[in-house]
Amino acid sequence: MPLNPQLDTLSDYPFEALRNLLNPVTPVVNHPPILMSVGEPQHQPPALLTEALAAHAHEWNKYPPMAGTPELRQAIVEWLARRYRLDPASLDPERHVLTLGGTKEGLYLLSSLVVPRRKGGGRPVVLVPNPYYLVYNGAATMAGADAVFLDATSDNAFMPDLAAIPHETLERTALFYLCSPANPQGTIASLDYLKQAITLARRHDFVLAVDECYAEIYDRAPPPGALEACAALGEGYNRVVVFHSLSKRSSAAGLRSGFVAGDPELIGKFAHLRSFGGCQVPLPIQAAATALWRDEAHVEVNRALYRRKFDIAEAAIGGRFGFYRPDGGFFLWLDVGDGEAAALRLWRDAAIRVLPGGYTARAADGRENPGARYIRLAIVHDEATLDAAFARIGRVL
Ligand SMILES: Cc1ncc(COP(=O)(O)O)c(C=O)c1O
Repeated sequence: MPLNPQLDTLSDYPFEALRNLLNPVTPVVNHPPILMSVGEPQHQPPALLTEALAAHAHEWNKYPPMAGTPELRQAIVEWLARRYRLDPASLDPERHVLTLGGTKEGLYLLSSLVVPRRKGGGRPVVLVPNPYYLVYNGAATMAGADAVFLDATSDNAFMPDLAAIPHETLERTALFYLCSPANPQGTIASLDYLKQAITLARRHDFVLAVDECYAEIYDRAPPPGALEACAALGEGYNRVVVFHSLSKRSSAAGLRSGFVAGDPELIGKFAHLRSFGGCQVPLPIQAAATALWRDEAHVEVNRALYRRKFDIAEAAIGGRFGFYRPDGGFFLWLDVGDGEAAALRLWRDAAIRVLPGGYTARAADGRENPGARYIRLAIVHDEATLDAAFARIGRVL
């Protein structure tokens, strides 16, 4: 059967690879399994989610507007302006924002919007941080671009080294996916770093897409955002889009709701493309999203819960496995020497599932896989479960 040949360039889906690694193995201990492999919030979202769904339950019969209801887009621009101290007049809900059925689909579809057939005299390039959220690589390859992996290791403080990207690569670049706070390492791009990335995008005529999915789960200081960096540069939002999600901020991964905001020309063209292949968000869900973006109280509670979880992690394994407290997000990125072997041991001897870091990164251009030494742990469970998990991890590793 003839299929898109680009399919062959997709990496394994990390959770499929994890199933292949662990499913043949039965834990030798009788403990209840603890799943730390998936970044799924375990707290319930606030009641206002279900209240809004119920109040709009008569709207399931209606086709929703693809770009989002005026109320939701208004709530989003007000949130962006508040969160990133932007001039409210710089954001028009109709021109700068599109709602998404979760950010995953928007991140994926973006590459079909911005990757041309050729750029800079060669095949187009999509820059992907390495390790990466799997969608960036999938989107790059399925759009027919060369994914160029920018290793983000302890040597460069877990953020791609912008100065090291060759000029020829930048000239061919159509899109750069940047993630801040980064999944999996939890690193936050500084305002200066974001300004440099934006300047590169403008100088070399590519789109910078900043995935700010974890922006609201932070330890000390709120991560700066790419729109904030645009405001600091003072030349509008051109060539920049940011992605935000309710999945982690509001523990509402099942709601499937996020948005993309930024460059009005891109947003306009994206709206056009999405009318063919985008995901429409049902009206009751848009109403719930509106209520969630208008409320900060539940987000503060959520953040405090994550801080407490990292206190537990730090008390239990601080000083070991290269432990550091991530600035943002809810993952621990632990240097265990051999991530795959450690994941196998943790499953067999402690009934704990973690993700080998190498499954969310690749060995590119003859370099080592920058995730191979690591395991990624989602620190999402309640305190008693985390206490039990770290006791078992301490015994086994
Ligand atoms: C870095 C990153 N970006 C985007 C997403 C997608 O989130 P959603 O589609 O739930 O908005 C995830 C989900 O795990 C993620 O880790």
